[in-house]
Amino acid sequence: MNLRSKTALVTGAGQGIGRATAQRLARAGANLVIQDIDEAALAETTRQLKTFEVDVLSLTGDLTEADLPEQVIKDCLDAFGGLDIIINNAGYIWNGALHNHSEAQWQAMLDIHATVPFRILKAFSEWLRPTAKAEIQSKGSACCRKVVNVSSVSGTQGSATQVGYAAGKAAVIGLTKTLAKEWGRYNVTVNAVAFGHIETRLTQGYSDSIPEITVGDQQFRVGLSNQQRNALAQTVPLGRAGTIEEAAGAIYLLTLPESDYITGEILTCSGGA
Ligand SMILES: NC(=O)c1ccc[n+]([C@@H]2O[C@H](COP(=O)([O-])OP(=O)(O)OC[C@H]3O[C@@H](n4cnc5c(N)ncnc54)[C@H](O)[C@@H]3O)[C@@H](O)[C@H]2O)c1
Repeated sequence: MNLRSKTALVTGAGQGIGRATAQRLARAGANLVIQDIDEAALAETTRQLKTFEVDVLSLTGDLTEADLPEQVIKDCLDAFGGLDIIINNAGYIWNGALHNHSEAQWQAMLDIHATVPFRILKAFSEWLRPTAKAEIQSKGSACCRKVVNVSSVSGTQGSATQVGYAAGKAAVIGLTKTLAKEWGRYNVTVNAVAFGHIETRLTQGYSDSIPEITVGDQQFRVGLSNQQRNALAQTVPLGRAGTIEEAAGAIYLLTLPESDYITGEILTCSGGA
């Protein structure tokens, strides 16, 4: 229960890595604010979190709407009076080779993967700065708070058909490293986890028709052909894709007090790929 009395915000907590992360943090005793665009999925996460004795606030809405990130931070602070951990996880893929990438596609990938974390952290800074300064004045140091941004090996290494996605996931690395420098004085660690192949609906296998997911009112083709999955597994020393629980474990490490002197780092969680 090493996160007892902490409050954590997890975006994209309706399913996949975000849901598993919310569960992992709840198991460690953290109170949670979970957010997702998918109401039904978030309701299921909320139901599953009932087995933990923590307080949960669930918030729905499209985080790419300009005012929503600020509202989410306000709701966290109104409900819990503070915020200790932020996990910027919400995201999706909209793939296509560069010659097929539209401006809208490019912008959508930058919006969700870079602009949303920027807006969330900017809104958080309005509360953080005076709060940390007051803590330093009264106690000599500020409480250690944690930000973990979710990136991808597409952002660190590139990935064919993912030019917009990869650019968004690379942007969040710049954001992470810069904020680690700006927020050291407030005792906030800012790190990122770059995932390789994790088993979620985004990477589901298919043999014939390409699966689609709905995000808001749009459909996106996702998944990997069984052939691609087999080829990918061969590039992974551990020989398989990661589970969402393993992905959540990597994020969890960077929320623990044992990581208080780690900041500005990009932890790759890819089975060694
Ligand atoms: N699965 C992988 O192999 C993998 C690899 C690298 C990085 N990632 C990243 O991990 C994160 C989680 O992905 P996942 O695989 O768990 O996918 P997922 O689809 O299972 O979960 C992502 C969640 O984000 C939510 N979301 C998307 N757009 C949103 C918006 N505008 N506002 C609010 N919520 C929104 C979705 O509704 C969904 O519940 C994403 O940022 C993804 O890019 C995943």
